[in-house]
Amino acid sequence: MGIDVGLSKVAESETHGENSPYFAGWKAYDEDPYDELCNPDGVIQMGLAENQVSFDLLEQYLETHSESPTICRSKASGFRENALFQDYHGLKSFRKAMASFMEEIRGGRAKFNPDRVVLTAGATAANELLTFILADPGDALLVPTPYYPGFDRDLRWRTGVNIVPVPCDSSNNFEITPQALESAYDEAESKNIRVKGVLITNPSNPLGATIKRQILEQILEFVTRKNIHLVSDEIYSGSAFSSDEFVSIAEVLESRNYKDSERVHIVYSLSKDLGLPGFRVGTIYSYNDKVVVTARRMSSFTLISSQTQQLLASMLSDKKFTKHYVKTNRERLKRRHGLIVSGLRNAGIECLKGNAGLFCWMNLRPFLEEDTKEQELELWELILHEVKLNISPGSSCHCSEPGWFRVCFANMSEQTLDVALKRIQDFVARREGRRRDNGFCKK
Ligand SMILES: Cc1ncc(COP(=O)(O)O)c(C=O)c1O
Repeated sequence: MGIDVGLSKVAESETHGENSPYFAGWKAYDEDPYDELCNPDGVIQMGLAENQVSFDLLEQYLETHSESPTICRSKASGFRENALFQDYHGLKSFRKAMASFMEEIRGGRAKFNPDRVVLTAGATAANELLTFILADPGDALLVPTPYYPGFDRDLRWRTGVNIVPVPCDSSNNFEITPQALESAYDEAESKNIRVKGVLITNPSNPLGATIKRQILEQILEFVTRKNIHLVSDEIYSGSAFSSDEFVSIAEVLESRNYKDSERVHIVYSLSKDLGLPGFRVGTIYSYNDKVVVTARRMSSFTLISSQTQQLLASMLSDKKFTKHYVKTNRERLKRRHGLIVSGLRNAGIECLKGNAGLFCWMNLRPFLEEDTKEQELELWELILHEVKLNISPGSSCHCSEPGWFRVCFANMSEQTLDVALKRIQDFVARREGRRRDNGFCKK
């Protein structure tokens, strides 16, 4: 190596969190990926919250509409329109389509104004932009645990903002309580850290469960009392297995006549519900005019290409298609969830009761000899290298209780899911056999 030329503090910082087992597991998968024919003993990727269960519906739509001028933008007719300069407002037709898709997912129970839709390159950018706007370096956001590991990067790394965890545990199914929020807030204050907001994920990643209306109301009361912001990341809103089981913070605001709405901001993206993480399409929906204007300015750093906007504006404006897609996608996810939960139960493993998302929250606590993070990571290593499954340990989601793991089920075929379940069942059987031989009675 040559001379070490210094870099910025951000570049040198470790707050991106990429050293966590969450990302290490992806690497292990990349080095030895499972393939039914070419590599049947490889690692099965169950650490990636990707939705592939409804891809056929998208492909079918694109095939049957391939002659539509808005879909076929490579034709000369639309080329110039897409190639020339677009400002940061994005295409009006796309913002309208996004707003109406967000309404549809919520069963029409909340209204979204296209003028408040700020377009970003995915929810990753949306969460970072909001953090830049709501907090200064050294301030903090309260984030209930367990939470999506990417937040360590998105909320902290470049912004210099801290995350103060709000520990939730299995005693009440990991529900967020006013007491937990209050004590995390007090803890931050005692360290002279200014709390600027609470960030919730509803439905939750990694829990795979929606947040109840009553809890949302309590959180709203809390942020109002403290005069801070509330960010609701609703990226999995269309992946709740039934529309009725998901209550958006937008519905709560609507029922309160938008009282205190200026402190509320919703994050959404098409990465999960439509399974399009590669398209990089996200949005900030804020009820605060100043936040909308600032977020729009900042979105210059993270715009969505016009071609992508054109294509999706056309697809999402087709009500017949979106209705059918959302309904079928929910049914398929529910079926997958049922398959994995019952397969794990057959192996003697329980999951948290879930009703949303692309994963379940699996309890392997009975398999730990001691309730420690070290034991959890030891078990994770074993599952990765011996069972050849990449799952995400709860500690990578900052879970306060060792032994929980997030297991994704929508990024593979049902056949691959069967192989994965068989591997887990065999692993448990081997382990129990070994323990019986050694005279242990714990799992
Ligand atoms: C809760 C949550 N927020 C944000 C993201 C990032 O999504 P995007 O691909 O839209 O950037 C993810 C992705 O897993 C997520 O689970």
